[in-house]
Amino acid sequence: MRVLGIETSCDETAASVVALDGASAPEILSNIVLSQIEEHAAFGGVVPEIAARAHVEALDAIVEAALADSAVSLDEVDAVAATAGPGLVGGLIVGLMTAKAIAAAANKPLIAINHLEGHALTARLTDGLDFPYLLLLVSGGHTQIVAVRGVGDYQRWATTIDDALGEAFDKTAKMLGLPYPGGPNVEKAAASGDAGRFAFPRPMKGSAQPDFSFSGLKTAVRQAATAIAPLSDQDVADICASFQAAVADALSDRVGRALARFRKEFPDKASPALVVAGGVAANRTIKGTLEALCSEAGFAFVAPPQKLCTDNAAMIAWAGIERLRAGMAGENAAGFVPRSRWPLDSVSAPLVGSGRRGAKA
Ligand code: KG4
Ligand code: ZN
Repeated sequence: MRVLGIETSCDETAASVVALDGASAPEILSNIVLSQIEEHAAFGGVVPEIAARAHVEALDAIVEAALADSAVSLDEVDAVAATAGPGLVGGLIVGLMTAKAIAAAANKPLIAINHLEGHALTARLTDGLDFPYLLLLVSGGHTQIVAVRGVGDYQRWATTIDDALGEAFDKTAKMLGLPYPGGPNVEKAAASGDAGRFAFPRPMKGSAQPDFSFSGLKTAVRQAATAIAPLSDQDVADICASFQAAVADALSDRVGRALARFRKEFPDKASPALVVAGGVAANRTIKGTLEALCSEAGFAFVAPPQKLCTDNAAMIAWAGIERLRAGMAGENAAGFVPRSRWPLDSVSAPLVGSGRRGAKA
């Protein structure tokens, strides 16, 4: 089985070919990602119109490169899978329409993929994980804990009631005058900071509601920064370190709850696992905290390689393979309309203000 995947939901233009032969491990034959970060940096965030135009300009060549790299011709591909949501609608239209055109011209089935499903299933591509497992998705647009029970069978156990975690990192960086994207720069500054200098709040810690919240923390950071302005480099480092410590502590509390719930709901699962995905999963303090939490709770901690944790098309191609082999490729994908909002779990009610609108997933 060979699937061509296309991803254009935010600021990465990506294409990939993934193969699965019999019972052997899946293989990523090519994985091309073109980041638009430089085009958006001057604006301090992703500009949807610029993103859509950049996808139009780049996508043809990226798809060609992915096919050339994989040494698989379009004829040899079994299906074309494309991200159809959630994300910025301009980019989604570019990717999905291109995929529809390629699929129609090559007479191949088209599979419309939920971007979050791509993130959710990556651990099966990289680590061969069995269902069920727990997923913590922490990116610029999403902060969710999802019980991954099977292909197309996802239960959202927690989400953010305001900002996504990556968004909180980016806003904190902006307040402190650090460049975009904020997350890596906050982490770098924090390395030489004193995490004990500021006692920032640990939002939702101890709450019976399982969700996340980060806007109060962001406000506390702003107040602390304003109170001691102008900021020295050491002040910035101390604020970053204290912010990161608060985030790690809050995450630990929220995820700890979910691990306990997982034990209760899946008592027969012999070796349970927590998977992390999304750009924030690159943060070493956060990773270390979650790793310790998991080892204490008897969970395996699975962090796919960073380039497969952040937005890419291999995860979309893989989700296509998962759907194909499960007989869930969808019948009328050629008529599928891109969805800027598309929850993975259609049962759990959306929370007001969960993640920034139209943001990257
Ligand atoms: O998954 P991603 O590349 O894109 C999506 O949002 O889908 O995640 C990007 C987010 C940004 O908010 C960025 O600031 C954050 O991940 N991020 C980090 C780190 N690296 C990226 N946050 C904290 N620490 C990092 N090292
Ligand atoms: Zn994503």
